[in-house]
Amino acid sequence: MTDVLTGREPVTQERRLVTEVPGPRSRELLERRTATVAAGVGLTLPVFVERAGGGVIVDVDGNSLIDMGSGIAVVNVGNAAPRVVAAVQEQVAAFTHTCFMVTPYEGYVAVCEELARVTPGDHAKKSALFNSGAEAVENAVKIARHATGRQAIVVFDHAYHGRTNLTMALTAKNMPYKQGFGPFAGEVYRVPMSYPFRDEAGITGAQAARRAFDLIESQVGAANVAAVLIEPVQGEGGFVVPAEGFLPAIAEWCTGNGALFIADEIQTGFCRTGDWFACEAEGVVPDLITTAKGIAGGLPLSAVTGRAEVMDAVHGGGLGGTYGGNPVACAAALATIQTMRDEDLAGAARAIEATMVPRLRALQQRTDVIGDVRGRGAMLAVELVRPGTTEPDADLAGRIARACHAQGVVVLTAGTFGNVLCLLPPLVIPDHLFDEGLGILADAFATL
Ligand SMILES: Cc1ncc(COP(=O)(O)O)c(C=O)c1O
Repeated sequence: MTDVLTGREPVTQERRLVTEVPGPRSRELLERRTATVAAGVGLTLPVFVERAGGGVIVDVDGNSLIDMGSGIAVVNVGNAAPRVVAAVQEQVAAFTHTCFMVTPYEGYVAVCEELARVTPGDHAKKSALFNSGAEAVENAVKIARHATGRQAIVVFDHAYHGRTNLTMALTAKNMPYKQGFGPFAGEVYRVPMSYPFRDEAGITGAQAARRAFDLIESQVGAANVAAVLIEPVQGEGGFVVPAEGFLPAIAEWCTGNGALFIADEIQTGFCRTGDWFACEAEGVVPDLITTAKGIAGGLPLSAVTGRAEVMDAVHGGGLGGTYGGNPVACAAALATIQTMRDEDLAGAARAIEATMVPRLRALQQRTDVIGDVRGRGAMLAVELVRPGTTEPDADLAGRIARACHAQGVVVLTAGTFGNVLCLLPPLVIPDHLFDEGLGILADAFATL
């Protein structure tokens, strides 16, 4: 078995269960968690982590689990990736915080330079750094409103943009994200997404986009739209890949109507979909792009990057926050981006897709409960339905996920209807591990 060196000790790249999952020590910790952590904080799998690296999570009972979730698309470079650990250690020993708005430091500037290089388009770009994905989205909306002098923000069915007040308004799904948390922010308008599996058969990307424009033009007024905000491949909505032509049509409509096109690449960015950013697959260049998750190998960092003149529209002091662009997180981001470049992790994501999709399609042939296999790169999903229909089967998705968890494979579920099984392995996962993980997933379908 190969070992992956992390900051602490090698993590052997194997699945190995020494107790049931969760084991006794995890169950003890779960009791403490239940007693002290707010019930509203969700939980996928009550296995408490001791260390992790490559494609493996080791729990406090000594079980080694295959990681097919990457902490929700965060540790694209692997957990405790050696170069990230080294960069963090060096920075944390130098200084931990000054506040970039008080006395700046080079790491923040260097991250903005890297963002200008790796994001789509060769125009002049600027960035501002924040902590969480939701915070980046909020700031992209602020910037768009300020730069255009308009207020309306157009979002899509099945969208997920976060859990803060403004981003709850932008997010589509009620339970669990919005229920009881209103009132929500205003001037947010929702239009239909291109969702090939659930759209009427044969509808093209351009037609799906026209359907959205008709609603915007009749109900919002194109001249009032500050921005159209979209995930190029929807994440929490169930890895929905819009029909070809949908994104370019939206970008074009924005340009033609003086609105900004904001790509929320918080989940899709940083090599996850086989390119640096998912927009690249169709040559779309966003005016603003939000990033987080994969950017810093697990440290909290997010960004808004965009056309320099748009980013500069906001007055001094209008953007920022105490911790935004924390120096330790910036050091992690620089090491993460360099690792992605040196190790061609976009290529690794494409290789995962090339191996995984045929296997998922073969699985689809063997069962009548997989309605759709979709995704891009290492962001892949199967949508579960009642046999022979398109009726969502969330219960089955939950049972399959739990069966995988019990066998030591961490998979996630998502989707507006809760019926999508999601695979988001770290891009450095060794072949034998995701091969084994897929085998266990297939066994779960065979036995349930
Ligand atoms: C597309 C997208 N936008 C925004 C967010 C919110 O990010 P955070 O949880 O860091 O606030 C997420 C998180 O899953 C996301 O997937």
